[in-house]
Amino acid sequence: MAHDSAGPVPLPADIADALARVATRLPGSPPVVYYPSLTSTTDVAARLAERGAPDGAAVVGELQTAGRGRLGRSWYSPPGAGLYVSVVFRPSEASALLPPMITLTAGVALAEAVRVCTHLPVEIKWPNDLVIGRRKLAGILTEAPGVERFAYAIVGFGINLRPAAYPPDIADRATSIESELGRPVERGLLLAECLASLAAWHDALRAGRQAAILERWRALAPSSHGTTIEWTTRGSVATGVTGGIDEDGALLVRTVDGTERIVAGEIRWI
Ligand code: BTN
Repeated sequence: MAHDSAGPVPLPADIADALARVATRLPGSPPVVYYPSLTSTTDVAARLAERGAPDGAAVVGELQTAGRGRLGRSWYSPPGAGLYVSVVFRPSEASALLPPMITLTAGVALAEAVRVCTHLPVEIKWPNDLVIGRRKLAGILTEAPGVERFAYAIVGFGINLRPAAYPPDIADRATSIESELGRPVERGLLLAECLASLAAWHDALRAGRQAAILERWRALAPSSHGTTIEWTTRGSVATGVTGGIDEDGALLVRTVDGTERIVAGEIRWI
């Protein structure tokens, strides 16, 4: 098994300063630890959670040597090109029964944080990619030690800050904040806003405000309605038109054979 190549070090000044500015929006002052290099922020956050780290505890990596994406993919994580962060979510009893809600909640929180910091027209592509136009700006990976009634979940997110030498399979589908804005974003401010937004939306989830979260998700994800897509199912490619998400976060798709319900996986816009 790969090991972290270095331990945590004190927070860089830009991050410490930005976190101080949002301190009142981070209830309980959860710890934020920073690694110059590590395998995956999600692996480290899971270890901290196993040792009792509180809700909102976060791990930030300057680079990841084994960053993970959804569907068993790797997440390209060179130094300086992205924000690589994982946050411990300790669900309330109610939200523990609804793991997909944590994923949707994180998508809403992070889309809003990027919008606040950059004013870019970030949208959500089902299930929870952050996109600008047709290009992916950020990915979110939620992992939990179980399917239901888990003690914690780890919400990991990678936001592309500046153009990088992306592998060819993602180069023409990726974008970065700097490419879109024409100038860099202050990563400390973006990180702080992401953590504060995640805390606020997780509070909403704990308070049972699923309807409000779903409503905001739908508004941030216009392509989940009326867009022609294809996806792979049982080894073949199917096509249809998106018809929104249901209360469990599944994507409804109208096909010639009726309405399909996609619960996991990936869709492609065509
Ligand atoms: C996706 O495939 O779209 C999800 C990508 C999630 C990447 C982030 S980067 C920080 C955290 N650590 C990981 O190993 N993965 C997530």
